[in-house]
Amino acid sequence: MNRLTKQQEEKIQDLLSQMTLDEKIGQLNQESVSIVGGFDVPFEELIEMMTDGRISQEEFEKIMSTAEQDYHEDDIRAGRVSSLMIQDPEKVNELQKIAVEESRLGIPLIFGLDVIHGFRSVYPIAIAEAGSFDTELFEKTARMAAKESRGHGVAWHFAPMIDVARDARWGRVSEGPGEDPHLVSEFARAKVRGLQNDHSSPGNYVAACLKHYVAYGACESGRDYNTTSMAPYMLYNTYLPPFKAAVEEGAQTVMASFNDLNGVPCTVNPFTLRKILKETYHLPGFVVSDANAIRECVTHGIASDEKDAGIQAVNAGLDMDMGTGIYRDHLKEAVEEGKVSMDVIDEAVERVLRVKMWLGLFDHPYVPEEVIGTYEELPAEHVALARKAAEESIVLLKNENELLPIDPKKKVSVVGELADKREEVVGAWSISWKEKDCVSVLDGMKERFENLEYFPCGGPSTEINEEEIEKAAKYGDVIIAVVGELVSMSGEASSRADITLPDCQREMLKKLLETGKPVVAVLMNGRPLALEWEAEHVPAIVEAWHLGIQMGNAVASVLSGDVNPSGHLASSFPVVTGQCPIYYNHPNTGRPGGKSKFTSRYLDAPYDSLYPFGYGLSYTAFSFEDLAVEEREDSLAVSVSVKNTGSRKGTEIVQLYMRDVTASIVRPVKELKDFCRVELEPGEERKVEFILPKQKMGFYNNEGEYCLENGEFKIYVGGNARECMESTVNLSF
Ligand code: NOJ
Repeated sequence: MNRLTKQQEEKIQDLLSQMTLDEKIGQLNQESVSIVGGFDVPFEELIEMMTDGRISQEEFEKIMSTAEQDYHEDDIRAGRVSSLMIQDPEKVNELQKIAVEESRLGIPLIFGLDVIHGFRSVYPIAIAEAGSFDTELFEKTARMAAKESRGHGVAWHFAPMIDVARDARWGRVSEGPGEDPHLVSEFARAKVRGLQNDHSSPGNYVAACLKHYVAYGACESGRDYNTTSMAPYMLYNTYLPPFKAAVEEGAQTVMASFNDLNGVPCTVNPFTLRKILKETYHLPGFVVSDANAIRECVTHGIASDEKDAGIQAVNAGLDMDMGTGIYRDHLKEAVEEGKVSMDVIDEAVERVLRVKMWLGLFDHPYVPEEVIGTYEELPAEHVALARKAAEESIVLLKNENELLPIDPKKKVSVVGELADKREEVVGAWSISWKEKDCVSVLDGMKERFENLEYFPCGGPSTEINEEEIEKAAKYGDVIIAVVGELVSMSGEASSRADITLPDCQREMLKKLLETGKPVVAVLMNGRPLALEWEAEHVPAIVEAWHLGIQMGNAVASVLSGDVNPSGHLASSFPVVTGQCPIYYNHPNTGRPGGKSKFTSRYLDAPYDSLYPFGYGLSYTAFSFEDLAVEEREDSLAVSVSVKNTGSRKGTEIVQLYMRDVTASIVRPVKELKDFCRVELEPGEERKVEFILPKQKMGFYNNEGEYCLENGEFKIYVGGNARECMESTVNLSF
């Protein structure tokens, strides 16, 4: 899939030999579409403003329809632009025509965009989808997004976001697949396959852009863009593996992250960009900066001015400048002064051209006329997939006295402002959706439940209405309270210092519970929340995240019992915010948290999470028996018997963990090594077998060397990271 033909390789060399320095630098320049005429804001900032709620989608559309936009036509004609962020296929074709037919060498533009969890068909935010533990699903949803976006001319996704994230205060935990390096790596591989591997038509695949490279998820105190410091063993064992895996899978491009890593911003970091990504992992394509990040190196205090920042970035291996124009304005002079070599420029240009060639843009630069408009009405199979993804991502956290599922004939009161908000189902970083395609929780519930009334009662942006609460209690046999965070409370630049439910939401739950009617809390949120109070008081809790366009139907299927929930958490949920960062696979201390005072614990909070990684209930129950570990030449065969002990068909996520008991550096108390989804009929029992290659049982030391050390290993299998069966083996590698 990655190889270019000999002819394509020759074409690249031929182009390189004809290009002037200006044209070469042009290939390293991604321009923003500036909004002019009173709205002097770069296009991507406008998108961010809409995404984080500073302006509504309607306001955005209004600005776009009245504002004049600068698409840099003259610069494109002169070969000074390589890439733009646009999703309008007609505009794409118009600009592409200038590049292909009017620029001297006819090199096509590459149009990129944030297509994080779907394009027109939005599926669950990554932290939710990861909880399905369904790699086939990860791949399919990516493939669907690739087709839809390419149908709009977008051939390059700034996705997947594969930052391991362990601090739920960080707003961007919503965009990524959670806290575990193995799950994140499997997610990364599947997304790359889905985005990149269907070459049956040029319109079916896009280039992935892995982000944010690297360790952005470890930003200190969960505050976005903050500094990151870590020892090499943590970088190699936890934050790099998803990038390594995805490059192995063929990922074409990477985005450098905003943060500094041990004092060097990732934008200008030769160790991470050149040494690791290019020389060790062999990234085939190019590295792009994050938005404005080259300029921000001056603010970081690592570059004296913009030119210095540009020189440091390109020399470090950062190939394309997103949005600052610094390469465009300063690189020529830097080359002439000998501060940047022609080899560095040529390598960067070659990488960009390779990706354009690999995408087929030289042969198929345009969106075919017959494709334009195809996705105005979403294809039924895309909608069906969005629904399946949403259903599989829901996690049942609590279900006292089997309150759920609810007989659809019962009288149900749905409450909470969030229930009735179509724009709140899509989650952070959704750009290309249309409200007409979104099914709110209320829409979905109305379709499925025969006797249902809606009482707004209050929400994150409205006051509690006690009269409504009384009416809701009077009408319903059960109350479904939809509570949580607005989309704008997670995602980029949306860190929270307190990750409990917003006060007004908890107040509303209290008042609903006081009525004496059974209450089910359906959570809509973009991060793990600290649910200590809710876990104690609310009898049933459903974690429904931001599930995308089919959210309402998926929630209704689960609440009615048409679908038995099978999602498990991809991130630990703390008891209180003060425990953050909290994650199951932590290194052991010399004094693991216990009851006695001088152990690693808090005076005012427990040691453990509230809900651990991998946790999720079902309407049925599963038991695990007969764990057996057999040593083979190059692997361990681990088997376990899983039984559905309840009365409904259900799916369990069977998880394999290990622990290296004694090693030359402190190892995690548990590490996920494999998982599978097992669907069982009531009473059915199945033997599940994992093959764990011994090669995968090692770790990186502080020199970045991979070590396999002889000794004792614990093997665990279970339905979450806390409750597992256990066995011990001694291994010599
Ligand atoms: C900033 C974000 O960090 C990144 O994820 C995104 O791809 C770029 N902006 C472009 O919109």
